[in-house]
Amino acid sequence: FLLLKIMSDYETITVEKRDKVAVITINRPDKLNALNKTVHSEGVAALDELRRDDSARVVVITGAGEKSFIAGADISEFAGQTPVTQRDLFHEKTFFNSIDVFPKPVIAMINGFCLGGGCELALACDIRIASENARFGQPEINLGIMPGGGGTQRLTHLIGEGRAMEMILTGDMIDAATALQFGLVNHVYPLAELEAKTMELAAKIAEKAPVALQLCKEAVKFAAKS
Ligand code: COA
Repeated sequence: FLLLKIMSDYETITVEKRDKVAVITINRPDKLNALNKTVHSEGVAALDELRRDDSARVVVITGAGEKSFIAGADISEFAGQTPVTQRDLFHEKTFFNSIDVFPKPVIAMINGFCLGGGCELALACDIRIASENARFGQPEINLGIMPGGGGTQRLTHLIGEGRAMEMILTGDMIDAATALQFGLVNHVYPLAELEAKTMELAAKIAEKAPVALQLCKEAVKFAAKS
């Protein structure tokens, strides 16, 4: 009860436990789950809790509603930002890097728009599973900025320089079938099956030995960085 209470005490996200799998849902569907400062800080806090919770073996991250995973950074917070405030923001512990170094597997369950910081957040996860209506893109260039949440490195590692370069330089979206072909996602399912299929995979991984899972994740991540 205590655990449930602590974990329900967030404003922009919900955290629920389904057996050994914890599901973090970004819960701002009216803003297509855009990442504002509160989502970032609550995401970091939720992962800190789940890191210490031995009963949580795998984490799934998704967005509320059927239209969007995450439509990027919250553009309404851009006004008044300067290069210096932006730099300072990224010197803090970010949601992206908390996922990257999280000692348990993290799966992105992508149910619609997966743009900008949302795509970068999915890229920071270990496995990505998408619904057929998912759309992926790094539209930052259309706002005169660059992807600042690790996308320039992680997207390049995942799909190769030429494809990453085209997505980042044009800001164009790709559909789920193209994302599958590029290797940006592992699987694509009809929206109605997305949750069941993702939870099935998460539950399978959650049965494995936790220390071995942690070491496997670290070793595979190391390969991408070496
Ligand atoms: N930040 C803040 N609010 C956002 C947002 C973002 N990144 N993306 C969408 N929203 C909000 C919209 O402002 C709108 O809010 P409102 O109803 O209060 O006006 C709501 O979410 C619904 O979005 P809307 O644009 O009406 O939906 P759509 O189906 O017409 O278009 C998108 C969907 C994803 C194509 C469009 O919302 C979009 O281009 N979003 C910005 C994507 C982006 O550039 N992200 C990267 C930022 S670096």
